[in-house]
Amino acid sequence: MKVINTKELTDELWEKYFEFYQKLYSKFYPDLIFTPNNWKQFKEQRLHEINNLQNDKYKEFSLLEQDEMVGWFDRFLTPLNIIFGFDTIYTDLPDEIYKIIFRELLNFMCDKNKTEVCCWSYDERKLNQMVKPGPEKVEDYPISALLKENIDVKLLRKFIDDFENRFENKISFLKKFPANLFEKYSRLVKPIYEELLKINPVLKNLNIVITDDDMKETFSLNENLSYTTNYYFIMWNENEEMIALHQVIIKNNDPKTIRCNGGFTCVRNDNRGKGIGKYLKSKMILYLFENNPDFKMITSDTMPWNKHMFRINEELGFKPFKTGARFRFTKEFLENYLNK
Ligand SMILES: CC(C)(COP(=O)(O)OP(=O)(O)OC[C@H]1O[C@@H](n2cnc3c(N)ncnc32)[C@H](O)[C@@H]1OP(=O)(O)O)[C@@H](O)C(=O)NCCC(=O)NCCS
Repeated sequence: MKVINTKELTDELWEKYFEFYQKLYSKFYPDLIFTPNNWKQFKEQRLHEINNLQNDKYKEFSLLEQDEMVGWFDRFLTPLNIIFGFDTIYTDLPDEIYKIIFRELLNFMCDKNKTEVCCWSYDERKLNQMVKPGPEKVEDYPISALLKENIDVKLLRKFIDDFENRFENKISFLKKFPANLFEKYSRLVKPIYEELLKINPVLKNLNIVITDDDMKETFSLNENLSYTTNYYFIMWNENEEMIALHQVIIKNNDPKTIRCNGGFTCVRNDNRGKGIGKYLKSKMILYLFENNPDFKMITSDTMPWNKHMFRINEELGFKPFKTGARFRFTKEFLENYLNK
């Protein structure tokens, strides 16, 4: 099997890579839409995503078996840790592929002076493939969902009216966050990321520091992905400070699922408990209901330990939907596996 840096594929291999993706979708993701129409469009989109990330932090590799593309894997140094992902046309991942991926991860960890890498999934086939080599499961990722048919429009209108009768804050609706709002965005979001890192039961012991550069990188990444659309409701105070935001994400390949997972909801500390979180989320659901009638559900990955957000979701009708998991692969684990 040959491992090729995706950025260096020849056009002939891009064509094969495109065919591999078509096969992958029809075999394992029949409900999703593979959006590029031809290999040139596919190449352009993939390279756009890859080039959005700095070379020393992100790399994607494709796997060529004889004359056919059979998979990909990537690894990414984020402000929190190294994460990796993969997908192949296999149901059972061949040992050779585990070894190829693990070798690359080990090199990258040494290079970046890290002691572990993580990956996660919500997909049963991928979860089985992750479990097979025997890494440590760090945590379950429960997803809850609000099915469109369970949306209680009357209740949403009540939450919205209750809030608007008490407060007169200005709100904006955006489909793209303008770059000139970055400073205001960061002033609101950065302290809340830091707060969440302190209460997240898994991350709290890692002493992770979020820098301004991390914020810039995450912001620009979020806004430049060609395969997603973000919707935001933002709330302002009388001093034009951003005091709350609620974001949802729609992936081009899955327009039937509106995702809060991957997005963010937050209210500045000194404005909590007034119903702003519930108000913005109710506004968004009502907006989607009235303007995006084709969706089937809204999903959220709020963990039960995040009591306030979890409570808002419950009140809005979100119910348990499925469970994914995240795994940790330590340096020692990977070395042992490769020496087997
Ligand atoms: C979660 C968050 C957005 C909630 O915003 P909020 O505007 O304070 O929440 P609301 O005022 O709409 O309250 C919703 C429910 O949470 C509970 N709650 C909110 N703040 C509370 C507080 N300070 N003390 C006790 N309960 C509180 C209430 O039970 C309320 O339920 P109710 O409708 O029965 O009164 C806010 O706490 C936050 O920014 N947290 C950090 C970021 C985060 O965790 N985001 C979610 C992950 S994406």
